Amino acid sequence: MTRHIRFNAFDMNCVGHQSPGLWAHPRDRSWTYKDLDYWQDVARILERGIFDGIFIADVIGYYDVYKGSNFHALHQGAQIPVNDPLQLAAPIALATEHLGIGITASTSFEHPYTFARRLSTADHHTKGRVGWNIVTSYLESGAKNVGQGGLKAHDNRYEIAAEYVEVLYKLFEGSWEEGAVLRDRERRIFADPAKVHEIGHKGPFFDVPGYHLCEPSPQRTPVLYQAGASGPGKNFAAAHAECVFVAAPTKSLLKAYVADIRARAAAAGRDPRKLYIYNLTTVIVDETDAKAEARFEDYRSYSSYDGSLVFLSGWSGIDFGQYAPSDLIRKVETNAIVSMVETFTGKDRAWTIEELARWGGVGGLGPVFVGSPSTVADILQEWQEETDVDGFNLAYAVTPETFEGVVDLLVPELQKRGAYPTAYRPGTLREKLFGEGPYLPKTHPADLYRDIEAVKARQAAHREAAE
Ligand SMILES: Cc1cc2nc3c(=O)[nH]c(=O)nc-3n(C[C@H](O)[C@H](O)[C@H](O)COP(=O)(O)O)c2cc1C
Repeated sequence: MTRHIRFNAFDMNCVGHQSPGLWAHPRDRSWTYKDLDYWQDVARILERGIFDGIFIADVIGYYDVYKGSNFHALHQGAQIPVNDPLQLAAPIALATEHLGIGITASTSFEHPYTFARRLSTADHHTKGRVGWNIVTSYLESGAKNVGQGGLKAHDNRYEIAAEYVEVLYKLFEGSWEEGAVLRDRERRIFADPAKVHEIGHKGPFFDVPGYHLCEPSPQRTPVLYQAGASGPGKNFAAAHAECVFVAAPTKSLLKAYVADIRARAAAAGRDPRKLYIYNLTTVIVDETDAKAEARFEDYRSYSSYDGSLVFLSGWSGIDFGQYAPSDLIRKVETNAIVSMVETFTGKDRAWTIEELARWGGVGGLGPVFVGSPSTVADILQEWQEETDVDGFNLAYAVTPETFEGVVDLLVPELQKRGAYPTAYRPGTLREKLFGEGPYLPKTHPADLYRDIEAVKARQAAHREAAE
């Protein structure tokens, strides 16, 4: 049987997202990101194309590494202004029936107790269609504005993240037992207090003695997304994530990443096939190759050199504004996205600043595939076959036009080849993705926190220590 390719849409509650400058294209609607109607329209298009989900990126902070200021980010609308992603979950859910809604939130800025309630609320409102993209953040400006003085060291951010998810698992999985909510009108008992437990969490970073404020949501723990690419990042993804996002510009890098992440997941006792890996990709498709090329050139004419380097500098932590366009990128130490620097200084080839800006100008760090439906379908199938990737996380050049092209032209071509789903599975997002659920499987580390006797013992120990 031909293997199915999976699609996710990569988006953000801002203009232009990964294609700086293209908000000025006459057909781009991303500047209407403040309107819920716009988001509902985009979501309906994606659901028509049986996308697994819309994945909404987010940053707390702004990109001020390039030329040491925020001028070009503001000037080009480069992910600033940026609105809150979680508030899009409910309106998108109301406009669709199946589409997954992946929300990015950082483990570095918000306390896990308040975040747990916000996430469970979204899982309730969407009837179990929400995912959480776990990020540790890379922008100094964000850390400074929440009073942390500056970004914590890269590996330390992952230590905090590990405890953060532990707190959430305890709240989601072990606080309210199955059957705790009775809603018994006759006896006038809403919930059975004996089945609602304080989690008794105390660790190096967080102290959360009490119980979860929400009753269990359809998935309890929403589907977990992650995009770690450094050593600690990949270990984190392999241990926790169900969907992993990567931004590999070449097949060889992608193949190595996929093999590595699956091996790490297997070593962590998980089924490496129950972990979907999506590569960031932009697809520009039209009826013929020539039309698609012309479309791409038109898009490119709106691309912003400065806007592109604003992102690349922010992601890498390196001010590319200090170099001439023809300079080669050198290997430097960074506290931001370590893996990005490794990619573009790696053994495949050395890049100049100008090449990097051009590469990242449309769709960000992933590859851009341009052509007719059959040309692009051939490329995607080839990438999947050679790298073992599960799917593609599709960025837009011009929205929703880029997505409409995929849905109306590429998806039917892939379906004709038996290489793309023709319907959604029933159930929650986890069930639609993996055919099982709605809760995390027993092989997932969250399972550790479901044992009620252990929950009670932690609660008692925490109380004793507090006395
Ligand atoms: C496709 C993709 C999407 C990402 N989205 C976000 C995001 O929305 N917010 C964020 O802070 N980081 C985001 N990241 C960065 C990752 O969370 C991670 O920091 C990065 O891949 C580098 O890995 P490392 O932290 O292990 O070095 C994204 C990365 C990729 C590849």
